[in-house]
Amino acid sequence: MKKITIAIDGFSSTGKSTVAKQLANKLKYVYVDSGAMYRAVTFYAMKSGIISDSFFNVNELLKNLKNIILEFKFNDKLGFGEMYLNGVNVEKEIRSLDVSKLVSKVATVPEVRKVLVEEQQEMGKQKGVVMDGRDIGTVVFPFAELKLFMNASAEKRAQRRYDELIDRGDNVSFDEILKNVQYRDHIDSTREDSPLYKAEDAIEIDNSDLSLKDQFNFIYKIVQKRINES
Ligand code: CDP
Repeated sequence: MKKITIAIDGFSSTGKSTVAKQLANKLKYVYVDSGAMYRAVTFYAMKSGIISDSFFNVNELLKNLKNIILEFKFNDKLGFGEMYLNGVNVEKEIRSLDVSKLVSKVATVPEVRKVLVEEQQEMGKQKGVVMDGRDIGTVVFPFAELKLFMNASAEKRAQRRYDELIDRGDNVSFDEILKNVQYRDHIDSTREDSPLYKAEDAIEIDNSDLSLKDQFNFIYKIVQKRINES
């Protein structure tokens, strides 16, 4: 069967990665979480004193870009690739609220985007890839056979992210998560380089009131149709 490229974009915490992982497992495709790459660069910058709440030394980050080696290593038990930064598994660290608070600033830097987009395009070269992010259908794979754009109300999204962080034992409040979701939506969709917007040929899915199962079944039908048409 012909392999296609599936690009999933949308606002933060819209469940992009959940459906992307489900599709990749079902289709035996590679899943790439492009947000994990921006998060890992941000984590590196935080650890190196390049960025904090009150400070961002962009030039220092640019000097360090060549020292930031990102890899996804497939974890059989989890069924997806975990993010490694310079050989160390940082999957847990990059999901923290501290990283979420700074990642959108890092993601506005064109030189950072250029490097990561090239790596993403390389990973998707053979097709048979599901990638999620903010600019996948518009910049990374503008010719993807299938583009999805996910949305849900800010409150629903914040609740999902809050539940995830509480489940793993982080000490966070719902209000700060909601603020972070709204703050990132704003920066991500108004930045100059590769802002988040729905590609003209993307299918929009609002999953505020869809169960995971219904969402998957709905999307999987679209995918099968697209594969048959390609
Ligand atoms: O998990 P969540 O949906 O909240 O975000 P993510 O996909 O992990 O992405 C984290 C941040 O990275 C986003 O808020 C964007 O600022 C940035 N990002 C981006 O600019 N371009 C992408 N392709 C993916 C993420």
